[in-house]
Amino acid sequence: MREEHLRYLVCPRCSGDLSIAQLNNVIGDSIENAQLQCSGCGTTYDVIRHIPRFVPLQNYASSFGLEWTRHSRTQYDSYSGARVSEERFFKETGWPRQMPGETILEVGSGSGRFTEQAASTGAMVVSLDLSYAVEANYSSNGHKDNVLIAQADIYSMPVRTDFFDRLFCIGVLQHTPDVERSFLSLPKYLKVGGSLVIDVYRYFWWQYFLPGYWLREITRRLSPERLYKLCHMYVSLMWPVARLINKLPKGRYINQLLLIADYRGVYDLPEKTLKEWAILDTFDVLSAFHIKPQSIERVRAWFAKAGMENAEVHYGYNGIEGHGTRAV
Ligand SMILES: C[S@@+](CC[C@H](N)C(=O)[O-])C[C@H]1O[C@@H](n2cnc3c(N)ncnc32)[C@H](O)[C@@H]1O
Ligand SMILES: [Zn+2]
Repeated sequence: MREEHLRYLVCPRCSGDLSIAQLNNVIGDSIENAQLQCSGCGTTYDVIRHIPRFVPLQNYASSFGLEWTRHSRTQYDSYSGARVSEERFFKETGWPRQMPGETILEVGSGSGRFTEQAASTGAMVVSLDLSYAVEANYSSNGHKDNVLIAQADIYSMPVRTDFFDRLFCIGVLQHTPDVERSFLSLPKYLKVGGSLVIDVYRYFWWQYFLPGYWLREITRRLSPERLYKLCHMYVSLMWPVARLINKLPKGRYINQLLLIADYRGVYDLPEKTLKEWAILDTFDVLSAFHIKPQSIERVRAWFAKAGMENAEVHYGYNGIEGHGTRAV
C-alpha cells in the first residue's frame, strides 16, 4: 500500500483514523511491512507483503485463497485474450467506461479480475477480500496508483461510511455465512445517491438432487490443498470424455452433473484456458465453505429493507443481479 492511500482506511472496530505506528520496510513508494494504529481505540493492524490485514490471514474463506492464488490469472481478460470479465463487469454494473475522480468499493475481489476492470475507468478502487486471495490481486493490480487492496471482512470493513460513489459485490454474497446480513452491511458505505451492484446465486428447488450438493458436505471439510489435487486429477481424466459428452444434446448439462464446467462452445477461449476454468470451477463448487443461493423475492425484499431507491432486481449473470441507489 502507499502512504497516501491511508486516507481511505479506518479502524474497523471504531472507525478511528489509522496512522503508521511502525514502518519496517518500504519498496519504492509502497509500504511492504508496517504496523498501523488506530487513533481512537489504539488497535494495531499489520501490513504484510504490501497489504493491510484486518482479519486473521487464515479463515473460513481460505479455500478461496488457494483457488485464486493457483488461478491468479485464469479469468483475467489480459491473460485469456477474451473479453469475458470486461463484458460482464460493464454489463452487470451498467457503469460508464470512464469515472475519473470517483471512488469505488469492491467487496470480495478474489483474484481481482473485476478490480482490473474497475481500475481501468480511472476511478480510485478500494478492493477488499476476506481470504489471502488478496495476494493474487495485489500481484496483478497492486502496482496501480488508483488501487488499494486490503484483507478484510464484509461484516466489519475498514473503510469510511457515507464515502463511496459506487460499490460492487459480485460472486460473493452466497459464500458468506449470513447472506442477508452481508447484503445489509453494504449500503452505508455509499454516499447518498451512490450506486450499489450485487449478484447472488439463484435458488432452485432441485438443487438438492445435484450430486455436487451432497458431495460438498464431505469435500468442503478436506484440506484445500488435498481437494485441489483431487479436482485437478479428476478434471484432467474426464476432460477428453467431457469433450464427447459436450457434443450430445444437453451435453453441457450432463457434464455439469458430472461436475465438469465445460465452456467449449460458450466462450471462445483456447483449450488450455478452458481446462483451467473447468478445474477452477470444480474446485470452487466442492471447496467453498458456504454456498447459499437465494430467491429473487428475497433479494427484492433486501433492497426494500435497506431503503434503496431505483431498485432493480432481475435474473442475470451468476443467477440474480440487483442494482439500486442509496436514498438515505
Ligand atoms: C467466488 S469468489 C469471487 C471473486 C470475484 N468477485 C470474482 O467474481 O472473480 C468469492 C470471494 O468472496 C470472498 N469472501 C467470502 N466471504 C467474505 C467475507 N465475509 N468478506 C469479504 N470477502 C469474502 C472470498 O474470499 C472469495 O475471494
Ligand atoms: Zn479503533
